[in-house]
Amino acid sequence: MESIVNSENHPGVTIFRDLDEMSVAFFDFLDDEFHKAIVAGRSYHLVLSGGSTPLWLFQKLASLKHLKMNWDFLHLYWGDERCVPPEDPQSNFGNIWSAIIRYIDIPEENVHRIMGENDPDTEASRYAGILKKYPVQENGMPRFDLVLLGVGEDGHTASIFPDALHMLETDEICYTAIHPESGQKRISVSMKVINNAKIIIVLAAGSSKAEILRKVIQKNKKPENLPASFINPSNGTLKWFVDKKAGKKLKHGMSFF
Ligand code: 6PG
Repeated sequence: MESIVNSENHPGVTIFRDLDEMSVAFFDFLDDEFHKAIVAGRSYHLVLSGGSTPLWLFQKLASLKHLKMNWDFLHLYWGDERCVPPEDPQSNFGNIWSAIIRYIDIPEENVHRIMGENDPDTEASRYAGILKKYPVQENGMPRFDLVLLGVGEDGHTASIFPDALHMLETDEICYTAIHPESGQKRISVSMKVINNAKIIIVLAAGSSKAEILRKVIQKNKKPENLPASFINPSNGTLKWFVDKKAGKKLKHGMSFF
């Protein structure tokens, strides 16, 4: 594992040898976060990302089998969802449910899924209503303990796409989006909700992400049309968990330890 220790251009980027090494670090981090919440007797509110990278990590966690614990402190949310029913293979909730939720003893009322089977506009309002009641608010927005994100090759994150940059500034908590290539309807939280979090971890793996990471992570020249370059917690910590293939264009001129 190589970490860039707060290099001025790359704060909080850790480049892992491979997904196995990333998964160990990811679960150690989650373990520590959960332990602190349990010791403090408080709940922990985690926003899950869609896509294959987090899914792989949670499938790996399930294979580690140390899941038998009291999960009633944990609340799960989704940063975005495809407008499909939960049993659809495209469903972010359905995939994470299959990978891990079905193995853990988490109260059903703690799993706050976006209902992709509902009318998109109706569901965006319903989900926004849930997030408005979320117990920890700051800046008029829910302040989650941890938001997990992925990044698309076009620079999208959650379902904030390059052709919908107005969604970076909206005060809407949750809105409907359309995937620019597939036309698939999505429901997504806004960038303001994402950046209100205490901790954001962006997960990226594979050589197809190398170029977009180079563009969105470097501090000096922020591209104005890539949503992922606007991931920037206003009062929190941003971590990039990147495997070696995805990080191969980040190494130039960087300090490692
Ligand atoms: C989704 C995600 C999306 C994803 C990126 C990266 O619903 O697809 O929210 O933003 O995180 O597309 O996906 P991969 O991890 O599969 O590359």
